[in-house]
Amino acid sequence: MSAYKSLYDRSITDKESFWLEAAKDIHWDQFPTVTLDESNAPFYRWFPDGRTNACYNAVDLHVDNGRAEQTAIIYDSAVTDESRKISYRELQVRVSKIAGMLQQGGVVAGDRVIVYMPMIPEAAIAMLACARIGAVHSVVFGGFAANELAVRIDDCQPKAILAGSCGLEPGRVVEYKPLLDKAIELATHKPSHCYIWQRDQSKASMTQAHDVHWQEAESKASPAECVAVNANHPLYILYTSGTTGAPKGVVRDTGGSIVSLKWTMKSIYGVDPGDVYWAASDVGWVVGHSYIVYAPLFHGNTTVLYEGKPVGTPDPGAFWRVISEHKVRVLFTAPTAFRAIKKEDPKGEYLAKYDISHLDYLFLAGERCDPDTLEWAQQVLQVPVIDHWWQTETGSSICANYAGIEMLPIKVGSPTKPAPGYKLKALNNDGSECKPGDIGALVVESPLPPGTFPTLWNAPDRFVESYFKNFPGHYETGDAGYIDEDGYIFVMARTDDVINVAGHRLSTGAMEEVLAGHPDVAECAVMGAADTLKGQVPVGMLVLNSGCDRSEADICKEVIQKVRGEIGPVAAFKCAVVVTRLPKTRSGKILRATMRSIADGTEWKMPATIDDPVILDEITESLATIGYPQKTDE
Ligand code: COA
Ligand code: AMP
Repeated sequence: MSAYKSLYDRSITDKESFWLEAAKDIHWDQFPTVTLDESNAPFYRWFPDGRTNACYNAVDLHVDNGRAEQTAIIYDSAVTDESRKISYRELQVRVSKIAGMLQQGGVVAGDRVIVYMPMIPEAAIAMLACARIGAVHSVVFGGFAANELAVRIDDCQPKAILAGSCGLEPGRVVEYKPLLDKAIELATHKPSHCYIWQRDQSKASMTQAHDVHWQEAESKASPAECVAVNANHPLYILYTSGTTGAPKGVVRDTGGSIVSLKWTMKSIYGVDPGDVYWAASDVGWVVGHSYIVYAPLFHGNTTVLYEGKPVGTPDPGAFWRVISEHKVRVLFTAPTAFRAIKKEDPKGEYLAKYDISHLDYLFLAGERCDPDTLEWAQQVLQVPVIDHWWQTETGSSICANYAGIEMLPIKVGSPTKPAPGYKLKALNNDGSECKPGDIGALVVESPLPPGTFPTLWNAPDRFVESYFKNFPGHYETGDAGYIDEDGYIFVMARTDDVINVAGHRLSTGAMEEVLAGHPDVAECAVMGAADTLKGQVPVGMLVLNSGCDRSEADICKEVIQKVRGEIGPVAAFKCAVVVTRLPKTRSGKILRATMRSIADGTEWKMPATIDDPVILDEITESLATIGYPQKTDE
């Protein structure tokens, strides 16, 4: 039997002993005597009486075990031309001082701390400092607007906020402090302290009573020790998009996360302690939490924290430079990054300037990987390119290939086979299993393995309602797809209003709420249209109030600005068009899927329940005026 198959089968038939064995590979202050508590399903608890600390496992353990002088973090900024190495010992000093700074500001175990930072080492150090004292961090991505930050402040009620003075986007300094001030003004909850990391590129003015100069406070702080917490103590909350505008606060617990993330580093990514590992993402996303910060540090790797883009900083050779300069063994990024590189350097000519011989694997995730991109990456890099599928909710991959166990044959278009602990099925609406090759809802039989989300912050009912209601006894991933005759999984589309823009998960429902708030908009729909670079981009269809005689172009510009101002530039909402009516079913449901097929130029059938088929001609014409369907390069 294949090594993967026997391991996977054991993780399903003998899950408790499988994960208890994996648990022996991490440091516990108190080793768990119970592996899984199933008494309150679907709120499963792994290792419920274990006690540990994530920061200890990520930092101190390596200092104690002979890795003190090894580089823990390489900070490489393509926007400031700076490259800096931080050893595990230096990391321990910084983390304990910042943890002390927080403690002296009144933060104790269980308090929430928001981290609103650009891609600088202090972002990772801040997360670890929270974990050190049992504070629960919630990182908010820098590309979100003040309003989104305010929603998160009110939901998780942070005692303190750690923020950078600015972020650096190519050609643009993003001032974080005014966004932070505005968010706190909008929010009902007020933090006690905001520690501002002053960057040289733009210093923030410290105007609020709660503002603290981070560098000064850190220099005066006494170091704090690690606080052992219960395995089920939340390590962090990470907000992600759901069907409605209100983001979901995905909770990650401590013990399960350390066990599962540590396990993945060798088994999935094939790296050993000491190897250089690079996840080219942002700490604001789950990939950043798991694979820029926690997993590589749990495993004693050197992690690369890159501030820059795949192209334009300064050219499409940016990734190859980082790989060669830092001897990266594994790169993990989103397909969109490779589409961007391919678009600017289709023949991969920039590669000739660099030695990337240390690279063993490229891992891709965050969105469906189109076969062209995967094959192109394989051809230019000459290493295995592994698509793997995962979600904020799961914290690591649901399906992958297993570089450290057994590399299964790659099928282009499939993220291969389920990771241990994931009993995956494709189900029809009535709950019956789909035949191989037939598309259904992708679900996982409960319980989910360790490291997955035990609940949603402040919203246990929403946890049950959103994920466990439609298919009792199963976690509903929100993705649709199929399983082929060989057991390979194919993830095809979301079943809800979530879209994926440049690997960023966004809610069309949230955008519709913003558009509907425009005084001239009577009705609207936002759909994710296929985009050759970003995978999908949002397109807004607007119906104006009757009697509105303002210029349609002006209104479109205003709603575009409104989404940027209220959700943030990351939404990449740049296309809106006015139509006289939206296509609907006779019961009034907007036919978004049909409009999306028209925008994508894919085949579609006239829905039997449509109230007025003629409207689709107008939709087709209107979409054509804004460039849909997109013309491909070929
Ligand atoms: N702070 C402030 N603004 C940000 C930001 C941040 N941290 N990150 C992105 N933005 C802004 C960008 O400046 C851009 O603004 P603009 O409309 O003024 O140009 C907008 O948000 C969209 O950003 P992005 O999605 O990054 O698009 P892009 O056109 O700048 O770059 C890619 C396109 C493909 C190069 C880029 O999306 C990329 O590198 N993606 C990698 C995917 C990734 O990391 N995914 C994470 C999951 S693995
Ligand atoms: P996020 O929670 O931001 O990581 O987004 C998770 C969603 O991204 C999933 O539910 C999928 O829709 C999509 N996704 C992530 N990885 C893949 C993949 N390898 N293939 C297809 N879709 C993916």
